[in-house]
Amino acid sequence: MKQLSIAAMTLLSAFVFPTESSADSVILKMSEINPETVILPEIYGQFAEHLGACVYGGLWVGPESPIPNTDGYRNDVLQALRDLKVPVMRWPGGCFADEYHWRDGIGAPESRPTQVNNNWGGTIEDNSFGTHEFFNLCELIGCEPYLSGNVGSGSVEELAQWVEYITAADGPMARLRKENGREKPWKLKYLGVGNESWGCGGNFTPEYYADVYRRYQTYCRNFSGNKLYKIASGASDYDYKWTDVVMKKAHSHMNGISLHYYTVSGWVGSKGAATVFTPDDYYWTMGKCLEIEPVIEKHISIMDKYDAKKRVGLLVDEWGTWWDVEPGTNPGHLYQQNTMRDAMVAALSLNVFQRHTDRVKMANIAQVANVLQSMVLTRGDQMVLTPTYYVFKMYIPHQGATPIPLDVVTTVKDVRGDRKIDMLQATASRKDGRITVSLANLDLDNDMEVDVPIEGKARNLEGSIISAKSIDDYNDFGEPEKITLKPFAGAKVAKNAIKLTIPSKSIVTLTFDE
Ligand code: AHR
Repeated sequence: MKQLSIAAMTLLSAFVFPTESSADSVILKMSEINPETVILPEIYGQFAEHLGACVYGGLWVGPESPIPNTDGYRNDVLQALRDLKVPVMRWPGGCFADEYHWRDGIGAPESRPTQVNNNWGGTIEDNSFGTHEFFNLCELIGCEPYLSGNVGSGSVEELAQWVEYITAADGPMARLRKENGREKPWKLKYLGVGNESWGCGGNFTPEYYADVYRRYQTYCRNFSGNKLYKIASGASDYDYKWTDVVMKKAHSHMNGISLHYYTVSGWVGSKGAATVFTPDDYYWTMGKCLEIEPVIEKHISIMDKYDAKKRVGLLVDEWGTWWDVEPGTNPGHLYQQNTMRDAMVAALSLNVFQRHTDRVKMANIAQVANVLQSMVLTRGDQMVLTPTYYVFKMYIPHQGATPIPLDVVTTVKDVRGDRKIDMLQATASRKDGRITVSLANLDLDNDMEVDVPIEGKARNLEGSIISAKSIDDYNDFGEPEKITLKPFAGAKVAKNAIKLTIPSKSIVTLTFDE
């Protein structure tokens, strides 16, 4: 039998029936489940910025387009997002948010002013997708809207009136909204006060931003029964000082604070190609991706100093891979392909968020279409679902479930840059008497035998798998289904355990009745 650590052996005898095998194992610590905790569906959030072909072309083609659409939204993408049960969508940026003036995006589309999208390639923005188009999209998909307000180049009055325009039943802003065709106010829960205010959102110091935040949020009111969840612009990566200062000065005025963490090799020079990389690069990426966990933990420990009761949420409202743009595309449009490596990053990141449900109340992958680590890629009337899309689809049963603490016993690999990573990564949850276990075999060369010790009978066992022949495989126009979500029949219920072999570079989800 493979050498297990003493801690793992103790747990095996305490909570499960020991199994005789040489397999790696995932031990469900059922006795440690806290039924109060929940994996908020918002952890599976999306982000749509006016950037490249994310909104224009990706979500919106306009009602006159020959591309099949519903009131201007492309039908294929609408359906794909409905199937994904998207819980929340952040908009209009990103950096674009702090140069966005909402009044430019209301009224008759032909009379809306244009603007230069200074952050993203200098593209001319025609504002044909504005407030009404965004809120109607959220209604069509069935998700919560999350607005990112302009603090960098806007005014308190402008943001206050935007909230009023969207949510008030009466008054001057409500009248304007009604004139523009929307009688009933919308509901708006999530309101971001600025984006990356330490950088593209105004280059503030944390001390100054905290004061500005306190001022802006004062005038963002709850109208007509609407209740805002106010989010301060948070840190990037390892900027713990930002979290410390903003929490110290403003925590009692916020419901949440954001964090941005990209799996990226650096901000200067090449970030590497999305589809061309070595095994060494791949393992480095896994290590960099997993580093989000100690980063989150450090931000949480700072938040705990000022908010021991964990009232304020940490919202990882931008995350994902960031590679060089595809050759021949506009460098300002951040269009990148998406391989099985990206699928692994998605699974590992979601696992981390699910381990920190006491603080992590939302996460928004960047971005929903045609930008960075997308769900969908579009070209003309064609659409491709990415490997990342299939991870989100596979993880749907975790939405709203109770996390199950795990012990994972597996091989550890040294990775360039002093990191060590477990070759088997896992997460598990329980909802309505059904258990879901998601397992990722990161190893590029070896299939992995895995035992999941269980106490019950694991009735109605079902499985699904995302796998690739090669880690750099991806879906493309002309070959859209190289990587898809497939049924997985390779798991068997044996005595006191579910046994399975996970192929190398694959992600498997099992669901069964407890
Ligand atoms: O997602 C792309 C950009 O990354 C966002 O606009 C910005 O907030 C971040 O730097």
